[in-house]
Amino acid sequence: TPLATIVVAVDGPSGSGKSSVSRDVARTLGLRYLDTGAMYRAMTWWMLHNGIDVHDTDAVAAAADKPELVSGTDPDGPTIHADGVDVAGPIRGPEVTGAVSAVSAVPEVRARLVALQRAVIGDGGIVVEGRDIGTAVAPDAPVKLYLTASEAARAARRNAEGTDPARDLAATQADLARRDALDSGRATSPLSMAEGAALVDTTAMNREQVVAHVLGLVRDRLS
Ligand code: DC
Repeated sequence: TPLATIVVAVDGPSGSGKSSVSRDVARTLGLRYLDTGAMYRAMTWWMLHNGIDVHDTDAVAAAADKPELVSGTDPDGPTIHADGVDVAGPIRGPEVTGAVSAVSAVPEVRARLVALQRAVIGDGGIVVEGRDIGTAVAPDAPVKLYLTASEAARAARRNAEGTDPARDLAATQADLARRDALDSGRATSPLSMAEGAALVDTTAMNREQVVAHVLGLVRDRLS
């Protein structure tokens, strides 16, 4: 596989280090970067902003094609716009975080976003992170990774990022566990390890170690 067309699929639960590792790997190799979780969050933001009851599956399904979503893929400054509005800030807020699992369980939402993601992937040259990249979005990706870590380690990282409103570690851990259960238990494309994916347990590794390990796996695949 040439670097210019490679697709690196990175899946795993919240707090596994996916985002920072994916961005570092993309930056190091000069690849684009796509955060698919940001797309599910932007879709969720749009539903909330337009007064759609996120627990009304039919209403969410009917609206899934409506928002215009645009993802910028520079690993140094990824962007996300919904109907022209920069939503990078609000999609990290507690309202969106609390509702995103419900919205992302709706098949029409997934069909829409998978199509958009494949369009962004195009001819490759990209690191794509999410929950179903190796299983559903890009099953033929030459490099597939499944990043994980203990629940306690993932909760501690989330708190250190300062993006979670729950400063209490136990509350963060409970929220992660709740979201993981919803993301792993849903009927359509649940979080699971793709066939052929390399399992990377980052519990006892720092960011640099994980990045070095992943770069090694990518280089093994380059011709
Ligand atoms: O990675 P994140 O925490 O920003 O993802 C937000 C939510 O979006 C997560 O709870 C599950 C969902 N998601 C998904 O269902 N499929 C993806 N490929 C990425 C995210």
